[in-house]
Amino acid sequence: MKKVLVLDGSTRKQGNTSILIEHFLNGAKCNTDQIDHVIAKDLKIDYCNGCLRCNLIKRCSISGDDWNELSQKIAEADVLVFASPIYFHYVTSPLKLIIDRFRSLVHVQITEQSVKHTPWQKWNKDFVLLLSMGSSDDSDAQPVLDLFEYMKEVMGEENRLHVIKATRLAVIKQITKTEEELHQLYKKLSIPEYLAKDDVTKNQLILQECANLGATLTS
Ligand SMILES: Cc1cc2nc3c(=O)[nH]c(=O)nc-3n(C[C@H](O)[C@H](O)[C@H](O)COP(=O)(O)O)c2cc1C
Repeated sequence: MKKVLVLDGSTRKQGNTSILIEHFLNGAKCNTDQIDHVIAKDLKIDYCNGCLRCNLIKRCSISGDDWNELSQKIAEADVLVFASPIYFHYVTSPLKLIIDRFRSLVHVQITEQSVKHTPWQKWNKDFVLLLSMGSSDDSDAQPVLDLFEYMKEVMGEENRLHVIKATRLAVIKQITKTEEELHQLYKKLSIPEYLAKDDVTKNQLILQECANLGATLTS
């Protein structure tokens, strides 16, 4: 049975990111009960302080926070989901704290041309990005996509990356709003109201895509 770990970067409960996760997990639950949903902001994760000792001791030298337990769960997961609203073209800060601690999972060698990351252990995982955005244009998510393209390759050539981006979602629960509710909202936010009709369909399709991906990756 596949193990699923969700690293949830959202800063609000019941937001659009939570709804994307809920649909993904509903799909996953058809095939597995090995599901862990971790809310990043509820963990105690200290900042990576750049001591670089991990290059020598092959683990993070920081003790007394939740990283040890979390890194164990990360290592065991078959499907590793990073879910976040896009904040200033990136993931939120609680999730970024976790990502920085991934430094301890790799050896870093500075070469003449660049820097080489070599994992202590190669992975064979499905990486999933569930991203919720306010913009109508998904290009704000590009820095996150670039990072994860790089990360899944660094962690081993067998890894796969799956991305779902949900755009034009400014307010809480917007992804589940009806056409009438979207109409009123768009009027208030000065978004062209004619977009409401197609957006309801688009949002439903995205949620279905989340459920399908959850089911597919755990089958
Ligand atoms: C501080 C902040 C920064 C944001 N930056 C961006 C951004 O760069 N690009 C974008 O498309 N949306 C941006 N947004 C909008 C959120 O990504 C969007 O509303 C998202 O759906 C919120 O997800 P949630 O409901 O799970 O909290 C920002 C929102 C906040 C509060």
